[in-house]
Amino acid sequence: MKLGVCYYPEHWLRERWPIDAQQMREAGISIVRIAEFAWALMEPSQGDYDWAWLDDAIQVLVDEGHQIVLCTPTAAPPAWLIQSHPDILPVDEKGRRLRFGSRRHYCPNNPAFQHHTEKIVRAMAERYGNHPSVIGWQIDNEFACYIPRCYCDVCAAKFRGWLEEKYKTLEALNDAWGTAFWSQVYNEWEQIEPPNLTVAEPNPSHVLDYHRFFSDSWVAYQDIQISNLKNLIAKRQFITHNIIGNLTDIDYYDLAENLDFISWDSYPTGYAEMGGDDRYFPGESRPKYSHDLGDPMITGFFHSMTRGLKQAPFWIMEHQTGMVNWSHTNTGVRPGALRLWTWQALASGAEAVVYFRWRASRFGLEQHHSGLRKHDGSPDVGYHDLLSMKSERELMEKISEEPLKAPIAMLMDYNDLWAIDHQPHREGFDYLRYLFVFFRACQKLGLNVDLVSREADWSEYTILLAPTAHLGSEKLAQRLHDFAEQGGTVMLGIRSGFKTSTNVVTDLPLPGVFKGLVGATVAQWHPLPSGVSYPLQSEILNTSSEVTFWAEALNPDSGTNVLASYETEPFQGKAAITQKQIGNGQIYYFGFYPSLDQAIAFVKHLTSWHKIDILEELPSGMIAIERGDATLVFNFTDQPLKTSIRGNEIQVAGRDLFFFTE
Ligand code: GAL
Ligand code: ZN
Repeated sequence: MKLGVCYYPEHWLRERWPIDAQQMREAGISIVRIAEFAWALMEPSQGDYDWAWLDDAIQVLVDEGHQIVLCTPTAAPPAWLIQSHPDILPVDEKGRRLRFGSRRHYCPNNPAFQHHTEKIVRAMAERYGNHPSVIGWQIDNEFACYIPRCYCDVCAAKFRGWLEEKYKTLEALNDAWGTAFWSQVYNEWEQIEPPNLTVAEPNPSHVLDYHRFFSDSWVAYQDIQISNLKNLIAKRQFITHNIIGNLTDIDYYDLAENLDFISWDSYPTGYAEMGGDDRYFPGESRPKYSHDLGDPMITGFFHSMTRGLKQAPFWIMEHQTGMVNWSHTNTGVRPGALRLWTWQALASGAEAVVYFRWRASRFGLEQHHSGLRKHDGSPDVGYHDLLSMKSERELMEKISEEPLKAPIAMLMDYNDLWAIDHQPHREGFDYLRYLFVFFRACQKLGLNVDLVSREADWSEYTILLAPTAHLGSEKLAQRLHDFAEQGGTVMLGIRSGFKTSTNVVTDLPLPGVFKGLVGATVAQWHPLPSGVSYPLQSEILNTSSEVTFWAEALNPDSGTNVLASYETEPFQGKAAITQKQIGNGQIYYFGFYPSLDQAIAFVKHLTSWHKIDILEELPSGMIAIERGDATLVFNFTDQPLKTSIRGNEIQVAGRDLFFFTE
């Protein structure tokens, strides 16, 4: 496990570079990521390259033994390029052409931008593609941040081409989108525009296709960079991209496919504050733990999500070191935070943690953002943490060599996410929030989970949770069937099979193409207002229980078992959870939106059937991660917490971790 840092030599005087490089080494850092926003300094005017400063900066770092991750600088196109091609600037959903003066000011479909992208990428690759200390490349920086989709004329024309390629004929498109509704029938491709600036809300099938088209646009833009790099760089140099955990505008499974590994940027306090409440049950407030450690459940969710993208180890390409500048309170960070975060990342499968950033910037937007060193160059809390972690590095190394296995896979699908989040139907029904309940249940029991795609190899997992497979597919139904037949357990949840792949409602009885697999029919479904609940009777939830938020009433086929049923009208006597045996395995339909306790009881039921070892329900603020023979127990609160692990009483001090081997 390696530690690194994001460094901006272009922000500091040359005299400082050797001191920085030396202080990095002294803190145990060996990787330095550079250049992701330095296009204007590498190519000060068109075709006129200045590599001298970058050569020197790399050399200074290499002289201290550092390895370099070099970034393509396309997230920040220079002013001269925008001046000569103003149509590179993206057009937002409101139809406004945005301006130069920050970053990410480009449309990935713009031909001039693609041309200049190829030129700068090739020029960099020619210069550094065989540099012995450049170990790999990061492409661009956080695709889709700020402007997830562009609505310019170039994009509109490309979208038409994309649709034509997909549907071949307008008849097929009209049929797939249901354009008979509100007289939206198209009789020429030219009539189709992106789905923004409509008077009332646009057609959901149109919206879903624009999401897909734009996700494909980012992937295609990344592929332009990958293919140019691949032709010129040494085979040993890797190619990666740094994604944003809670950004949902790109199908990250697609984006990850052509990369050697995927990286994500982890800012625990920022992610907990910004949108953290949206991860919890509507009305439930986010637990606060230590105010400055973020929420380990949210951080853990994104670790699991990133690990599932390629079902492989990943990097943290940027990791918070102190306060951020973009959340609400931007909490100051106390000693020990960086250590806990680094250990959690390592335990969750990170092969490297690269800290953001070396030294706090004196200028530009991020003046209030911390680094490992303060504005004046002296060490900040994060740097002290790094020094204190030096004695633990050997143990970190050992643990990083242990295999990380997850008994549980959770199905995640961006098409489902886009369809549901566009039409949540019940306020607060947010796809990631809904997945998060099941994730939290597993995490509370010390179970590792990978968030995997419909196409992934599931053979290593015992249990597959599909909280919703909203857009039904025969192929998925078959795969789920095969997984169960070979002895696995599948859980399919609410709203599954409701729609087809083009985002129109199925004409089959619900859950659509999954009906035969499940062995039950969804007769009714009710979104419930807060304060209204339907009582349940259930063997596996142990107690009587109440369904809130979203309830579905099931009629089981003969041979299908009922494990929970509604006690009162309007769903009295109908099933809420069913189970059907398939080959050596089984499929459950979980017909309501669970509370955390209900999700925990259900996961316990599944794991006990499979004799999967679980931990006692961990107290709030405590998480446990298993890697090989080791179990790492973290306490993210300020108070000591106790738990019992396989019969051993364990106490973990506040803001500390405990390491346990079988
Ligand atoms: C990231 C971004 C970095 C920096 C950082 C600040 O999203 O990639 O360049 O802006 O946030 O927290
Ligand atoms: Zn565009």
